[in-house]
Amino acid sequence: MSTKLVEAEWIWKDGSFIAWGDARVHLLSLAVQFGSSVFEGIRCYDTPRGPAVFRLPEHIRRLHDSCKIYRMEMGCTQEEMIEACRATVVKNDLKDCYIRPMVLRGYGSAGLNPAGSPVETYVAAWPWGTYLGDGALEQGVDCCVSSWNRAHPNTFPVQSKAGGHYVNAQLIKMEALANGYAEGIALGTSGLVSEGSGQNIFLVRDGVVITPFLDGTSLPGITRHAVLQIARDLGYTVREQDVPRESLYVVDEIFFTGTASEVTPVRSVDRVPVGAGKAGPVTLEIQRRFMSIVKGEGEDTHGWLTYVND
Ligand SMILES: Cc1ncc(COP(=O)(O)O)c(C=O)c1O
Repeated sequence: MSTKLVEAEWIWKDGSFIAWGDARVHLLSLAVQFGSSVFEGIRCYDTPRGPAVFRLPEHIRRLHDSCKIYRMEMGCTQEEMIEACRATVVKNDLKDCYIRPMVLRGYGSAGLNPAGSPVETYVAAWPWGTYLGDGALEQGVDCCVSSWNRAHPNTFPVQSKAGGHYVNAQLIKMEALANGYAEGIALGTSGLVSEGSGQNIFLVRDGVVITPFLDGTSLPGITRHAVLQIARDLGYTVREQDVPRESLYVVDEIFFTGTASEVTPVRSVDRVPVGAGKAGPVTLEIQRRFMSIVKGEGEDTHGWLTYVND
């Protein structure tokens, strides 16, 4: 995937639209100095009924939770934020796109106490393709186990999707790319499998769909939640459990889930082929169901789509 941002025209800021190029923060804002921001990543899909956002209320609820954990006021209600996301897609005339709400601490305070810095709320959106590269969804990606761990619980509160947490994610991602892999799989501080740099992980063994517990080292992914539901709907036994590293080398299938990654097969870990070394049948069945729902082709039985023009 291209890493270059494709610009749109308008960005929503605290209740009105500003030009894309005017969405600036000061060098000394706390968001820049200390990573003091929270954000969401949301996908909008072009469907036969027009653009539809996947699990918008759930994303905004997580944004609200992220703010609360970091003692920030979101600056608007969850309903207003949902409307802001919808309006940003419409105003920019976007169809398939990625929506990035952000709440950040701005300029004013000199030290760590944020009292003198205003909280600013933004929504940007832009077109964005397949996150893990062309062909990733069909063929799968090659991954490594990262030498970087996820943070210990009660250090960085990972239920909050905070900007500052993503320096760890960058380390995982950069190391993987530098060593010729598409993505890194990080272990938690217990030594057990946690998640990718920006996606949750699933394994399949003997037809059972497995994912690590939410143990305070991984983000409670909204796609993870949806995929657990889809797997159950398809009749699979689903288990949240501890996953030791060595399971990655012996299971039949592995896949990632995430807003950006959608449902991406993993075809090797540390150069060890996963199963037959290509996307597995359970992964592809779950991926097909997921894609048919988000693209408005299959029935949206769980009410996961918000149509922006309704
Ligand atoms: C660290 C991390 N884990 C998992 C995910 C997947 O979460 P979701 O499915 O809500 O996008 C993301 C993406 O937001 C992430 O950044």
